[in-house]
Amino acid sequence: MYNLILFGPPGSGKGTQAQLLVDKHDFLHISTGDMFREELSRNTPLGQEARSYMDAGHLVPDEVTIAMLRKRVDQHPDVTGIIFDGFPRTDPQAAALNDLMREKDTQINALILLDVDVDTIVQRILGRAATSGRADDLKEDVIRTRYRNFVNYTSPVYDFYDELGLARRVDGTLTPEAVAAEIDAIIGEGLQND
Ligand code: AP5
Repeated sequence: MYNLILFGPPGSGKGTQAQLLVDKHDFLHISTGDMFREELSRNTPLGQEARSYMDAGHLVPDEVTIAMLRKRVDQHPDVTGIIFDGFPRTDPQAAALNDLMREKDTQINALILLDVDVDTIVQRILGRAATSGRADDLKEDVIRTRYRNFVNYTSPVYDFYDELGLARRVDGTLTPEAVAAEIDAIIGEGLQND
């Protein structure tokens, strides 16, 4: 089993790269942001709870997010690999993922940071705001709050995996194809070492 964390600030290209990987490999893609948006569109209690945090650009509380993620992993026991997109985003989420991987007798093989500067991020997200249908894409101050939350709460997760020798950094301002080629090379190394 090959398990990859696609990591990076909002708008860094996690979803874009996850889709390219799913097209190429037989991996399960788990995006906690997409899961919350699905809940929102079905107007479930979980969606209602997540809405106020998401619309303001804040993180949904860990307990809720971790329980949702666990459930999704449990629903897919026979996958050949998982791409985690947007999870873990805090130290407690990273610890919970570690426990979950251990329970499943597997491990995270790599975390790839898509490195993109804040001005590019704001430009990209405002550029897609009209078509994304996402309330958190519409206002620059909300986008900047999302970025600040990444810096304050999420970026320390990189160090957790770096200490384990699993963290890699890719220039996320390259073209999507060039970013994908770098990610493929990292996955290729990991699969060879398996
Ligand atoms: P989430 O849905 O995870 O959003 P995000 O991290 O803000 O990231 P985005 O989906 O906006 O961007 P992306 O990195 O996937 O980039 P994309 O490929 O779309 O989270 C939303 C909210 O949900 C959070 O704020 C939080 O409230 C909540 N949440 C989710 N997970 C949580 C968790 N674990 N804990 C707590 N709360 C959680 O690309 C962006 C744009 O750039 C696109 O238009 C794309 O076409 C373009 N693009 C992509 N790559 C390139 C490139 N290389 N060059 C040029 N353009 C590019």
